[in-house]
Amino acid sequence: MTTSYDAVAYPGFAFPRTHPGNLAAMAILHGHNPEPVENCRVLEIGCGEGANLIPMAYAIPGGRFTGFDLARLPIERGQQRIDELGLTNLRLFEADILNVGLNVGPELGQFDYIIAHGIYAWVPEPVRNRLMALCAELLAPNGVAFFSYNALPGCHMRRIARDAMLFRTEGIADAEERVAIGVEFLQFLHKARGVDDAYSKLLLGQYDYLSEREPHATIHDELGEFYHPVTFLEFVGHARSQGLDYLCEAALPPPDDPGYRSEVQAALEETAGPDPLRQEQALDYVRARIFRETLLTHAVTDSGSERILDPNPAYLPHLLFASVATSSPGAAPHSTRFTLSTGAHTDINHPAAVAVLRALEAAWPLALSLDELCQQTAGSGFASDETGLRLILRLVISQLVELRAWNAPAVRVISTQPRASASARQEARRRARTSSLLHTTVMLDKPRLRPLLDLLDGTRDRNALADALQAVFPDEPRHELVEEIESDLQFLARTGLLEA
Ligand SMILES: C[S@@+](CC[C@H](N)C(=O)[O-])C[C@H]1O[C@@H](n2cnc3c(N)ncnc32)[C@H](O)[C@@H]1O
Repeated sequence: MTTSYDAVAYPGFAFPRTHPGNLAAMAILHGHNPEPVENCRVLEIGCGEGANLIPMAYAIPGGRFTGFDLARLPIERGQQRIDELGLTNLRLFEADILNVGLNVGPELGQFDYIIAHGIYAWVPEPVRNRLMALCAELLAPNGVAFFSYNALPGCHMRRIARDAMLFRTEGIADAEERVAIGVEFLQFLHKARGVDDAYSKLLLGQYDYLSEREPHATIHDELGEFYHPVTFLEFVGHARSQGLDYLCEAALPPPDDPGYRSEVQAALEETAGPDPLRQEQALDYVRARIFRETLLTHAVTDSGSERILDPNPAYLPHLLFASVATSSPGAAPHSTRFTLSTGAHTDINHPAAVAVLRALEAAWPLALSLDELCQQTAGSGFASDETGLRLILRLVISQLVELRAWNAPAVRVISTQPRASASARQEARRRARTSSLLHTTVMLDKPRLRPLLDLLDGTRDRNALADALQAVFPDEPRHELVEEIESDLQFLARTGLLEA
């Protein structure tokens, strides 16, 4: 079958928060006991061309991966990539959610991790219902399912923009043209309104947001045929109706979330009652939440077991820790500045926190266990006791430390004949971004970075790399190419593109 998704050619990306390593880490932090990542069974429902699954399957050779999608062309494209890479642990097939498990793929078996990204809120009701039921059927007893969906109340505001754009673009067939004209219409409405009231601000906010976005995302999210945002409690109610239950989100709330503020916390019980899920819903009204990435498990049947909604530092010893932050002198004496790749920075003068972050900086892109962290911070005052675990959780909440349940096959030290992930090299031949072994998207905007990446098949040393690049760029002075290769290799190692 050819669908509208064939026409849109949704490119797909590696979504770090859907990776089993992240799903397992968040599940463990909330008291669940998921299957180890190294030999996980993963299903992605609505996998497109497998842009999310292919780098996962490549980086976890002991795992088994399955994906299906309604659209034929993306599945064909994905299959070509799989054949080219020789991946034997990933199977893609064309199917409709409405038929899978009933008369298509009844042999699928069960999965430790199920990913339903960008589907739930964008399909008609029968598909949404079957999606939830299918997930309950195919999820292994300790399995974790990831659902992303548009949420309320934030999407009430987005719906105003959607309605206006749909009105303006009626009858226009070309998808990118619809986005351009629709977004421009929002700006027109804002200007034409002429008064600085709440409606005008809303239009401007939606215009600013959508004009920065990649068109394919707007085509899918705002201009798609189906648009069904739900409240958090509606979503959990739907999951519970199928024997599933809420576990946690795929990421902790950001450091400025109102849920961390003591006066908000104090008011939550009064506002929403003792049920932590109702409290979470109350917070969504504070946050004007627009999107959620929720993890579900099978409902806990043992009446003695309580779901833990808050992350529990007592589970941190079962996890690994990493930090991309780089250190430099802080503004105040005796403080150290830690800067994230976004440019955000924090000055810290707490000796144990500084020691932890410096140890993780030295290990990046790899993660350290708690024991390794203790060894490498000896004498700093850091210990794996309650205080130390609380300190790590604070660093995680402040986004300086990442939690992992698995160490990616990336390298910290660049070898004499560096080799980049074959899956990343293949992706970079098609576009100016690629997926790393850490399952992040890496932009490859620098002009000679893509040709260099393509050469990194592990057969060339620095000289051979310079020779090969010189053949492509004959006018470049050799010493400049040599210097550039060195700094580009550092970049590729830091972004998790070089493999062991
Ligand atoms: C936004 S895309 C997400 C693709 C992929 N999950 C990703 O994140 O890159 C939504 C996908 O769901 C698929 N889809 C929509 N309805 C479906 C159905 N009834 N059965 C199977 N796939 C469906 C579409 O074809 C599309 O590829």
